[in-house]
Amino acid sequence: MTTAIIGTGGIGSVIAHQLASGGETLRLSSADNDSARRLAAEIGRAAVLAADNRDALQGADAVVLALRFAVLKGVIDEIADPLTDKPVVVPSNPFGIDAQGNISRLLPKGQSSGEVVAGWLPTGAGLAMAFGTLSADLFESSSNRSPEPAVLFYATDDDHAGKEVERLIRTAGFEPVKVGGIAQSSRLEVDGDLHDLVVGPAEARSLIGGG
Ligand SMILES: NC(=O)c1ccc[n+]([C@@H]2O[C@H](COP(=O)([O-])OP(=O)(O)OC[C@H]3O[C@@H](n4cnc5c(N)ncnc54)[C@H](OP(=O)(O)O)[C@@H]3O)[C@@H](O)[C@H]2O)c1
Repeated sequence: MTTAIIGTGGIGSVIAHQLASGGETLRLSSADNDSARRLAAEIGRAAVLAADNRDALQGADAVVLALRFAVLKGVIDEIADPLTDKPVVVPSNPFGIDAQGNISRLLPKGQSSGEVVAGWLPTGAGLAMAFGTLSADLFESSSNRSPEPAVLFYATDDDHAGKEVERLIRTAGFEPVKVGGIAQSSRLEVDGDLHDLVVGPAEARSLIGGG
């Protein structure tokens, strides 16, 4: 199966490596394509450098938008047509960073990036919020954990996107656990109760019930 990864920075590059290790074929793009080109070369045969963001979607079964929240809407608008029949996986937290390195929340408290991104997507695209709960380092070190796999939580309202994100989470070396619909996605974000947690399936399911 083939996944497009648009955005090959801190989290996109780690997601790409883990998916490729699990057997996924990748189509990569980034802002100026330098980082995507470097990543494609690192990964080797399993990764193709796309000409641009729209080209990344050619023949892809799903797309991961590994982008900072501030650029997400612009990229979604740019690729809206080919997105209409695709599962769209978004790890973005609603935070921005200024030139001085100060981090600030970009949405009012109580509004999740999942709810906002769902409103930006074209009809027919199915959204799953996932792959953004762990820092890139923790994501890399927790994948393919043995004997008990670590969990990656996800949220979706869409059955097709849910099946596809579960497949991608397993391919990346984790056990998928659904938190609920997109309305629950704030639990996955920075400040959410499930953010940065490395837990096994039993503990994950008890946390979901108790949340
Ligand atoms: N880093 C983490 O540990 C981590 C963990 C969990 C969740 N997240 C979330 O994931 C999101 C991305 O974070 P990050 O740390 O990966 O950010 P990052 O390192 O800044 O990477 C962002 C990527 O987006 C690309 N990009 C920017 N504008 C683009 C455009 N118009 N078209 C295509 N690609 C574009 C950049 O391209 P270039 O490389 O060409 O500049 C870069 O590859 C954030 O919302 C963050 O909250 C990050």
